[in-house]
Amino acid sequence: MKDKNNQRALWSSRIGFILAASGSAVGLGNIWKFPYVTGQNGGGAFVLVYMICTAIIGLPLMLSEFAIGRNANLNPIGAFNKIKPNSPWIVIGIMGLLGGFLVLSFYSVVGGWTLAYLVKSLTHGFDSFTTSKNAESIFLSFTADATETLFYQILFISISIYIVLKGVDKGIEKICDILMPTLVIMLAILMIRSITLPGAVEGLKFYLYPDFSKINGSVILIALGQSFFSLSLGMGCLITYGSYLRPQENLISVTVYIVIFDILIALLMGMIIFPAVFAMGMEPTEGPSLVFNVLPVIFKKMSIGGIFSIIFFCLLTIAAITSSISLLEGVTSFLIDKYGWKRKNAVLITALAIFLFGIPSALSFGLLENLKLANMTFFDLINNITSNYLLPLSGMLTAVFVGWVWGVEKVQKEIENNTSKSRWPQIWIFLVKFITPLALAIVFLSNFF
Ligand code: PFF
Repeated sequence: MKDKNNQRALWSSRIGFILAASGSAVGLGNIWKFPYVTGQNGGGAFVLVYMICTAIIGLPLMLSEFAIGRNANLNPIGAFNKIKPNSPWIVIGIMGLLGGFLVLSFYSVVGGWTLAYLVKSLTHGFDSFTTSKNAESIFLSFTADATETLFYQILFISISIYIVLKGVDKGIEKICDILMPTLVIMLAILMIRSITLPGAVEGLKFYLYPDFSKINGSVILIALGQSFFSLSLGMGCLITYGSYLRPQENLISVTVYIVIFDILIALLMGMIIFPAVFAMGMEPTEGPSLVFNVLPVIFKKMSIGGIFSIIFFCLLTIAAITSSISLLEGVTSFLIDKYGWKRKNAVLITALAIFLFGIPSALSFGLLENLKLANMTFFDLINNITSNYLLPLSGMLTAVFVGWVWGVEKVQKEIENNTSKSRWPQIWIFLVKFITPLALAIVFLSNFF
């Protein structure tokens, strides 16, 4: 479907948009990262802080990004330039696109790992995963193998290219219409299996019972960062997705649906991991390798675990792909809008550049593991720069832009565009003017110092 005025593509339906934006939000952040940061940061208490951060900071910011995108009908850089021409605020758009480029460069590396593990689960590759120590050494030798990781990284990017080449409504929307419901069904199957394992109750207790003594400054910062990454904020993706929205759509309700969906998927994921981890007598504090080292061993111990492991790694790959396409679309849309490039050229060149830039990240676990910049491997450096600096800074500036520069009446008009008035904008304006920028400034400064 095309916009009558400028021939840009539009989402063909409201639900299509909700599923595509939820597809961007629900990704490795929910399925790979959320369980392990929850495990490392005290379980239930962390979950509570994460939900509060999402409601009072993530949600207002997501609404702001959609409003900017829809109002300008352009990519992130073009959008700031159109709303405030020739002003320095364009820097937010530049940071967003740069962030999207950098995130996809290492996201596609982890996306490649998930694909490789899907292939392993389909080909009995987990037969040798007998203990988590042993699974760990297999994981380490896999991630150190340049040929294998680069192969899967290319495969992962190629799938994203294939979808984005087909365009907004015929590619991204269509595939998310199929993949997102599939993902929910798979999650439900796995959750039922996990909570019915003998001994699962201990895991549920760890996960759901908030021990408030565990909450401290660092837990709050990690929860906020997690919420930010999980909602795909601060990278221009949501501005781009908002730019394909029809003017009569009610922005408040779609945003609330997407946020609830994102939280629910993360929560469900915890309901899968922790009961299984406790039931099998393993440690919830394993860290980033929780999903790769602990789960295959758990699946191996379960009856018909092979099927559950295929379902799980399929789910992980789907979640990673629907997020990766939003990152690729964000950068691509700029080249199409600004320079009038054909979609095909814009997608291929962007993806190639992202892949090349991602090579050192892929090699950070083997060939380049000793290459340290600021004491970090290339992978960690890019992850650190984006998550700890670019994201919070760009989020904070977006809140200041929307709350103080663009003008709240104009934004409110955009949000309520031809839809019935509600009292939520007042609460939103308060959050976006005061609470969101302040909280993000604290995060940014604490990361800096
Ligand atoms: N939200 C995605 C996840 O949770 O994995 C990651 C992501 C996608 C971050 C798109 C930022 C973005 F623009």
